[in-house]
Amino acid sequence: MDEKAEIAPVNLYPRSTDGLESATMSYDDEIRRKKRRKRLVYIAAFAVFQTVVILVFALVVMRVRAPEVEIDSAAVEELSGGASSHYNMTIVARLKIKNKNFGDYKYERTAMNISHGGVTVGEGVILNGKAEARDTETVQVTARVSSVVASSNETSSGILVLESKAALRGKVHLMKMWGIHFPMMKKRKGAQMNCVMEINLASRVVQDMDCDD
Ligand SMILES: *[C@@H]1O[C@H](CO)[C@@H](O)[C@H](O)[C@H]1NC(C)=O
Ligand SMILES: *[C@@H]1O[C@H](CO)[C@@H](O)[C@H](O)[C@H]1NC(C)=O
Ligand SMILES: *[C@@H]1O[C@H](CO)[C@@H](O)[C@H](O)[C@H]1NC(C)=O
Repeated sequence: MDEKAEIAPVNLYPRSTDGLESATMSYDDEIRRKKRRKRLVYIAAFAVFQTVVILVFALVVMRVRAPEVEIDSAAVEELSGGASSHYNMTIVARLKIKNKNFGDYKYERTAMNISHGGVTVGEGVILNGKAEARDTETVQVTARVSSVVASSNETSSGILVLESKAALRGKVHLMKMWGIHFPMMKKRKGAQMNCVMEINLASRVVQDMDCDD
């Protein structure tokens, strides 16, 4: 009996080895299953990450904003007149074209008009050009202004009020972002300039400039 009792565990071995093999198999399966689950989690996380990237890209980078244009400063040259309140002068304006987009803004040649009390008194030319992505371009525009008839209170105050308007037409080219070429990414955008300037007739300077945003 003692011998049998000793043999019994020996006999159990082959069966337990079988069990061990299947246990090892299911353990491998478990690892594989865990790996697969982990991979799915990674894929899901990556999909979410990619969606966020695309959303940010669509909402921030691809959003096309209208550029802004205004007269930053202006100088008065060759001011002449005074007789019967008629004045001629040249206005040299420094314009700023601000482009907040992630692509270049290419604009066409256009006029910068100068008027006095609703009457056009001069015109300058904004040459075609480009404001780089997220940058501000400075351009100089010279306008010959003639036959301004000062009102009586302008004559008495010595301050001439002129308005300047321009309507830029152009396209935002999102195609040239980070050196990557997106041929379809062009969008028309206009920019309006509307400024009022006060010219001091005695000191011959632009003493105040106020532009709409
Ligand atoms: C202003 O210029 C016009 C021509 O553009 C000329 O006929 C006129 O005499 C000038 N007036 C003054 C005050 O210089
Ligand atoms: C000239 O006078 C009118 C009213 O008399 C006033 O509305 C206008 O603002 C004045 N212009 C200037 C430049 O002071
Ligand atoms: C400037 O003047 C020209 C001709 O007088 C006109 O066609 C154009 O619309 C004017 N531009 C603006 C912005 O008022």
